[in-house]
Amino acid sequence: MDATETPVSNVVPTREHETVCDACGTTVVAFYGLPHMWRFILIEDNDTKPLPFEETIAGAAITASIGKSADDQSPLPVDEANLLAGAKIYMQACAGCHGRLDQASSSAKGFYPLPPHLLPPGTGVTDDPVGATYWVVKNGIRFSAMRAFNQKLSDTEIWQVSLLLRNADKLPNAVQDALRQPQQE
Ligand code: HEC
Repeated sequence: MDATETPVSNVVPTREHETVCDACGTTVVAFYGLPHMWRFILIEDNDTKPLPFEETIAGAAITASIGKSADDQSPLPVDEANLLAGAKIYMQACAGCHGRLDQASSSAKGFYPLPPHLLPPGTGVTDDPVGATYWVVKNGIRFSAMRAFNQKLSDTEIWQVSLLLRNADKLPNAVQDALRQPQQE
């Protein structure tokens, strides 16, 4: 049978069906798949720098999630006791991925995206509002190795480690020493 002989009634529903499904697929990919796909399809090895637009997508998504929480103020004062407590938490829970004080870069390999170095000599998150860092540590970053710590650390502990990172460029000597101790598991 020639295509021109196909009854119109058979063709139209099929075409409509296809069109609807194309749209579905595109929508699903655009909203849920893209940020994920860049990482797993376009980025093949861990030494590849993120594409600029990819950083923008991920960064914008994180910024949107943090939202007003960035304005949250720490209920704890920035004093040596809280910074020391933050340093202990950091060495136990974070240094394995984010590196130690005075290391040039984080030693963790095999993650994409790589964990950023959060202590000097880099600037880490010292320029970010402490409320934003608190949010990230509490909730984690989707599609990355940065897990949510809300089950593992108390709110007080999350504020302490967030204060540590916010003030990482001006830590008292005792706190710096605590960040240089060999890691104890
Ligand atoms: C298993 C590895 C791993 C551990 C453990 C880990 N992180 Fe992360 N972290 C990451 C990765 C990977 C990123 C980058 C995620 C991204 O850019 O999408 C990240 C990102 C961050 C950021 C955002 C940095 C920025 O430039 O905005 C902060 C803050 C942070 N981590 C704090 C912590 C703290 C505090 C701890 C310990 C309580 C911790 N992380 C433990 C892997 C880890």
